[in-house]
Amino acid sequence: MLAIIGGTGLTRLKNLKITHRQVARTPYGEPSGALTFGEINDHHVVFLARHGYGHTIPPHEINYRANIWALAEQKVKRVISVCTVGGVRDDLKPGTLIIPDQIIDYTSNRRHTFFDGGDKPVVHIDFTEPYCNKLRRRLLKAAKEARQPVVDGGIYAATQGPRLETAAEINRIARDGGDIVGMTGMPEAGLAREAGLSYAAIAVVANWAAGRGDSKNRVDLAAAEQVFMEAIEHVHRILEGVVKV
Ligand code: HPA
Repeated sequence: MLAIIGGTGLTRLKNLKITHRQVARTPYGEPSGALTFGEINDHHVVFLARHGYGHTIPPHEINYRANIWALAEQKVKRVISVCTVGGVRDDLKPGTLIIPDQIIDYTSNRRHTFFDGGDKPVVHIDFTEPYCNKLRRRLLKAAKEARQPVVDGGIYAATQGPRLETAAEINRIARDGGDIVGMTGMPEAGLAREAGLSYAAIAVVANWAAGRGDSKNRVDLAAAEQVFMEAIEHVHRILEGVVKV
C-alpha cells in the first residue's frame, strides 16, 4: 500500500474513494490526524494530512515521529510527500513542480529520530541519498505519462519556520546549493529512512523565496495560494498515475 502525506493546501485527496478512517496511537503520541484509507483507481492508498485536517499544526509542532510510525504500522512500504516550497533557484518559479533528490537540514529542536536512547541500540542510518531513487523514478514516470512537466532533482533546504526566511538567509541557502526551501521536509525524510520506508517528495513551488524573483521586498503569499491551487491539480494527476506501478 502507498501512503501519501499531504502538505499545505492538500488536506484531502481528490479521486480518493474513502473506505474508512482510523485514529492511530503510537509510542510517540498522536499523528496529525486520523489515517484516511481508500482507493485511487482501484489501488489502496492511505492518506495523512501533515498539518492536520483543519490545517492547524505549524511545521515545528508536527509530530513527525508519530506520523511515520503510524504509517509504518500499517505495513506501508512507500511514502510520497506532497509539499509546498519557495523557489530559490532562478528557474524554479511559482507553479513549478519539482522532485528533489537532496536535502540540507536547517531545522532545530525537532524530535528527529526513533533512536534516542532507552534500551535500543543506536543505528546510524545511511542518508547519502535522502530520497528513494526508485520512488522518485516512479513519480517522474507518472508525471511524464500524465504530460505534467516536473523538474528532476534539486536540493531541498528545510528551515525551521513558521516564519519565512530573510533575504540573507535565502542567499545563504543559495550559496549552500539549495534550490527550494520548505519547512516540513525534515525530520520527516530521515524518520522514514529510520523506519525502513521508501520515501520521495513532490514539491510545488508556491512563491519566490524571500528576496528572489520579482517581488523583491516581501513574499507574496496571497499570490502563492492561487498558484498553489492551480499547480495542485497537476499533482493530483501525477498521483493518479503513480499508484498503479
Ligand atoms: N520558505 C519556507 N517554506 C515555504 C516557503 C518559503 O518561501 N514557501 C512555502 N513553504
